[in-house]
Amino acid sequence: MIKRQTINLVNGDTYFWIEQLSSDTQLNSFSCLIDEYNYYLFDDALRSQNDHIALTWLLRERATGAITAYMSLIADAIKLSVSEKEIHNLNYPFKTIPAMKIAKLAVSNPAQQKYKGIGTYMINNALAFARTCNRQLFACRFLTVDADIEHNKSVMDFYQKNGFVPNAEMNAKRNKTISMRKDIFS
Ligand SMILES: CC(C)(COP(=O)(O)OP(=O)(O)OC[C@H]1O[C@@H](n2cnc3c(N)ncnc32)[C@H](O)[C@@H]1OP(=O)(O)O)[C@@H](O)C(=O)NCCC(=O)NCCS
Repeated sequence: MIKRQTINLVNGDTYFWIEQLSSDTQLNSFSCLIDEYNYYLFDDALRSQNDHIALTWLLRERATGAITAYMSLIADAIKLSVSEKEIHNLNYPFKTIPAMKIAKLAVSNPAQQKYKGIGTYMINNALAFARTCNRQLFACRFLTVDADIEHNKSVMDFYQKNGFVPNAEMNAKRNKTISMRKDIFS
């Protein structure tokens, strides 16, 4: 097996660039292992963006121009329990805390065979976007995700390795997704 190139914040820019989805983007070459994530990109991502429901970012490989990953970002808010607020030192008389959510994230199958760390690189880019929002536009304390354990049983491990933890308040009755959060400022 060919040794995979590890991508991180230091070398990511050398191999890839990030751009927003547009009506000119040719999407049909993207292929990840979960059909639902391919169809979302082909059929729904642009409409969702035009309707201001989800904004999609593409990671393109400099050598080929290929779409190696995408993520769709949306505004969010999460309810934290008293003990969760204590963990984050958020001593406020309300439960709901502003957040930014990774609504979709997928890495292409060919890219996963060639590179290691692309999913993590996308999360780091989402964190960078969130920090920019906090500096310039609006506050969001957490990066959130609904980990899709229906389609990818072990995906919580991926998010936990990236510093996400499950939310106590939101997961009581869930079995297809697990709501997870990462403090952008810790
Ligand atoms: C989940 C996904 C985005 C991860 O991308 P990736 O580029 O493979 O992730 P990384 O290389 O950054 O992995 C970081 C770590 O998480 C681990 N990891 C990645 N995916 C994992 C999974 N599904 N289950 C368990 N561990 C996983 C990696 O082994 C790696 O561990 P290490 O640092 O100990 O070597 C990618 O597999 C994907 O697109 N899957 C299909 C769509 C999907 O499930 N999206 C998420 C829905 S919420």
